[in-house]
Amino acid sequence: MRSCNLTHSLVLALCLTGLASARTLTRRDATFDWMNLTASTNLTLSPCYDIFQCARLTVPLQYSNASAGEAEIALVVLPANVSHDDPAYLGPLLFNPGGPGGSGVDAVVENAPVFQAVLGANFDVVGFDPRGVGHSTPALAFFESPAEALAFFAPYPLDANESASSLGRIVASAHLLDDLARARGGAIAESVSTPAVARDMLAITRAFGREKLSYYGVSYGSVLGATFAAMFPDNVGRLAIDGVANAHEWYQGDYFTKDSLTDADAALEDIYAACTAAGPPACPIFERTPALVRARVDRLVARVRAAPVPVFNASAAPPFAVADAALVVGQLLNVVGAPYGGARPFAEAVVALERGDGAPMVAGSTQALLAGLDTCAAASVPFAVGFIDVEAPIICGDSVVDTVKTLEEAGKEYEAMLEISDLATAWYPTTQGPCTGWTIRAKDRMNGSFETNTSFPLLIIGNTHDPRTPIANAHNMSSGFAGSVVLQQNSTGHTSQAGFSACTALALNAYFNNGTLPAPGTVCQTEDEIFGGATDSALRTRGLKRRDSGWPRGLRRAGL
Ligand SMILES: *[C@@H]1O[C@H](CO)[C@@H](O)[C@H](O)[C@H]1NC(C)=O
Ligand SMILES: *[C@@H]1O[C@H](CO)[C@@H](O)[C@H](O)[C@H]1NC(C)=O
Ligand SMILES: *[C@@H]1O[C@H](CO)[C@@H](O)[C@H](O)[C@H]1NC(C)=O
Ligand SMILES: *[C@@H]1O[C@H](CO)[C@@H](O)[C@H](O)[C@H]1NC(C)=O
Ligand SMILES: *[C@@H]1O[C@H](CO)[C@@H](O)[C@H](O)[C@H]1NC(C)=O
Ligand SMILES: *[C@@H]1O[C@H](CO)[C@@H](O)[C@H](O)[C@H]1NC(C)=O
Ligand SMILES: *[C@@H]1O[C@H](CO)[C@@H](O)[C@H](O)[C@H]1NC(C)=O
Ligand SMILES: *[C@@H]1O[C@H](CO)[C@@H](O)[C@H](O)[C@H]1NC(C)=O
Ligand SMILES: *[C@@H]1O[C@H](CO)[C@@H](O)[C@H](O)[C@H]1NC(C)=O
Ligand SMILES: *[C@@H]1O[C@H](CO)[C@@H](O)[C@H](O)[C@H]1NC(C)=O
Ligand SMILES: *[C@@H]1O[C@H](CO)[C@@H](O)[C@H](O)[C@H]1NC(C)=O
Repeated sequence: MRSCNLTHSLVLALCLTGLASARTLTRRDATFDWMNLTASTNLTLSPCYDIFQCARLTVPLQYSNASAGEAEIALVVLPANVSHDDPAYLGPLLFNPGGPGGSGVDAVVENAPVFQAVLGANFDVVGFDPRGVGHSTPALAFFESPAEALAFFAPYPLDANESASSLGRIVASAHLLDDLARARGGAIAESVSTPAVARDMLAITRAFGREKLSYYGVSYGSVLGATFAAMFPDNVGRLAIDGVANAHEWYQGDYFTKDSLTDADAALEDIYAACTAAGPPACPIFERTPALVRARVDRLVARVRAAPVPVFNASAAPPFAVADAALVVGQLLNVVGAPYGGARPFAEAVVALERGDGAPMVAGSTQALLAGLDTCAAASVPFAVGFIDVEAPIICGDSVVDTVKTLEEAGKEYEAMLEISDLATAWYPTTQGPCTGWTIRAKDRMNGSFETNTSFPLLIIGNTHDPRTPIANAHNMSSGFAGSVVLQQNSTGHTSQAGFSACTALALNAYFNNGTLPAPGTVCQTEDEIFGGATDSALRTRGLKRRDSGWPRGLRRAGL
């Protein structure tokens, strides 16, 4: 299923993603077919993607019900540089790129040299597609065709303030997504919980003949890591989480409304301040003070809210788009997560739109990707977009409390979010909104405590201003996991990977290879500058939505 490229592109839209899921799989091996791999409960590895080994691991579809059937987890291994019987071999190291719904297979295939340089060459680096996702089967895929998915998403408001009926439409769509899932994917929809994925991680580790997990998880991957540590505290080998969500709130179904945006405005201010400091031409929307830069962007948002701009491009598919407030705020929300690579192309797109040219703003946007669904005619079915259709079953289904809301209750929840940041207009529709109609509860539930002694202390990483996972969450989770240490990376953006810090990279390397934790209170500076350096034209042509990770750029510069 899902041969359409857009399935992967749209993973960009996922809400809590770090580095690698923000990239399309460019090294897809056309001569390799996952379905040709025999799934098995032991690890039967076959060569794939040039230098990797692949396997499909059979696990229970529901750990709580042995008669519910099986699932097969797709995993890719970047082999360690030492043999398994070498005393220096450190076992498998699992990675999750976030989302939820991001493909760990794609992430590891795409970033293998980076992982080897930062995490160490004595591990087998393992990327796996969490159950329901990517190459794992059965798939969370509710649409019978891309055209049907387009019909569902075309009227879906990506800006809850777009019109008086936007919020109502979000709530109505949430109920429809639930109906679709019940009609076409009930068993898989109730089987994709984070606790079930945590159990899969133990199964993968055991398939390598080990009892203790080594794991690095960013963004949503922090919820997965914390869940594992809570459920299996005695099976923690090395566990680092980065760009940390508040897992207590996650399971109460209110993380996104309560405090995910806490530092979003501070992150935005960093970008505006960097613009003023960089001056023209490095920052194309330069004004004398950060407040004036902000006013300039806000003015554009207000202008296109009242008067959306038509964008016609005869060679694009489809050849038409409209640049409106939802588009600009959506792109702003992306840029605030990836300011080091994204701020300059965004500023250039602002200038173009001020002149009446909306094409650069449209490039790479969620709107453009959704509109392009009809170019997926050859996609196999059932079809998943990899947007809220994959996120909602995981985010909403994880909640131990009912998330269904009346329109009035949804309005209150949305207003509370707006009080934290105006970026909520674009954040609500892609995070909490879809839960307002979701009735399906996960079968495998969270079981354990986030206050526990783990068999090895956790490394917990947070940025000074992370717009989706404020650093307060890192401290909150750390207070529960005995002996864990918070490393603060003094940068802006979502997860430490948004900007490069040699200090953070070395700390990760020392933790995984030597078991060394940084001293409590460690602050790592970043070597990246927002608006610093030359325009990355490659990034620009790839579109704003591509969050260029700080890691590959930083390692290239550092010669690693
Ligand atoms: C899958 O297996 C079949 C049967 O062994 C083989 O003919 C086909 O070439 C394989 N496809 C790929 C892409 O490996
Ligand atoms: C692994 O599983 C396969 C298929 O289930 C089986 O043929 C093989 O003997 C197993 N290998 C080991 C070492 O258990
Ligand atoms: C377990 O799964 C089977 C097959 O779907 C189902 O018939 C049965 O009711 C389930 N049992 C429980 C306790 O949910
Ligand atoms: C691991 O082995 C590969 C291939 O032999 C080599 O290119 C790479 O530099 C090695 N990495 C480390 C960290 O030793
Ligand atoms: C028009 O679309 C084509 C195809 O997507 C793209 O390569 C080109 O850059 C676009 N033109 C402008 C002005 O954005
Ligand atoms: C969104 O709409 C509400 C009223 O519906 C209004 O109070 C709020 O200021 C608007 N916010 C933004 C950022 O447009
Ligand atoms: C929760 O974990 C405990 C200890 O591992 C176990 O005894 C219990 O059965 C688990 N409960 C559920 C619902 O999985
Ligand atoms: C962790 O271990 C310490 C020392 O053994 C003990 O005092 C404490 O109660 C334990 N904490 C938890 C949450 O189990
Ligand atoms: C962590 O967050 C939860 C949920 O917001 C809160 O109840 C708890 O008091 C926090 N713990 C600490 C130590 O701040
Ligand atoms: C973080 O970096 C800023 C400059 O970018 C600096 O002013 C500030 O002191 C740094 N904070 C810490 C805690 O190192
Ligand atoms: C490795 O660990 C030892 C003992 O904990 C420590 O003394 C040493 O500094 C560590 N080395 C590195 C490179 O972190």
